[in-house]
Amino acid sequence: MELLSVLCLAAAAKGCHCLYLAYKFFLRPGKELKQYGQWAVVTGATDGIGKAYAMELARQGLNVLLVARSEERLTETAKELKGKYHVTVDQLKVDFSNFDAAAREAVKEKLATLDVGILINNVGLSYPYTKYFHELKDQEVADIMEVNMSSMTWMKLGVQLVGVASPVSGEHFWDELEPTGALVSWG
Ligand SMILES: NC(=O)c1ccc[n+]([C@@H]2O[C@H](COP(=O)([O-])OP(=O)(O)OC[C@H]3O[C@@H](n4cnc5c(N)ncnc54)[C@H](OP(=O)(O)O)[C@@H]3O)[C@@H](O)[C@H]2O)c1
Repeated sequence: MELLSVLCLAAAAKGCHCLYLAYKFFLRPGKELKQYGQWAVVTGATDGIGKAYAMELARQGLNVLLVARSEERLTETAKELKGKYHVTVDQLKVDFSNFDAAAREAVKEKLATLDVGILINNVGLSYPYTKYFHELKDQEVADIMEVNMSSMTWMKLGVQLVGVASPVSGEHFWDELEPTGALVSWG
């Protein structure tokens, strides 16, 4: 009898867990992204995955700062976004293969003027075609490391949004850690 009760309890717990997963993956509404801030920053925003992110964030009502190298493509993408969604779109010309102190300062200055809640660290280099690692030339390795790593690191520092301690009231250390944004990085 006791064994039966335990089995029933286990089955009920499993059932509840499955219901929770169904809710979490299929029914739970998405987060209100504007709660983090009015602006999203997307690197590599004029093509591919970055552009798709920029579009979706604008669709959800966020203002978007587009970052890439070509002024012409930035202007084109900004025009497309503004035409589709009623948001403010700004652009910043940056070459992450040469993200030196002056370039970083320019980015910092721009970011300081915006209420940034979301940073999409999308820009990144890969091989032109599939290769074994030992076949890479030193310059290719250096370029990949420069664009992929330095962009993510410096952009995150420039925006300073995730887990930034903010002085809210409360006695405990954890009360003072209030996440202030969302960060997505890959490459
Ligand atoms: N597509 C895939 O199958 C795949 C798979 C795995 C990972 N990824 C990663 O996902 C990310 C996006 O890939 P994607 O295929 O969507 O890229 P993509 O279509 O080639 O777009 C690249 C974007 O980055 C900008 N960009 C390139 N080099 C830059 C630089 N040095 N400084 C600033 N901006 C630069 C480009 O604009 P400008 O040329 O005007 O600068 C463009 O807006 C990359 O990190 C990539 O490694 C992609």
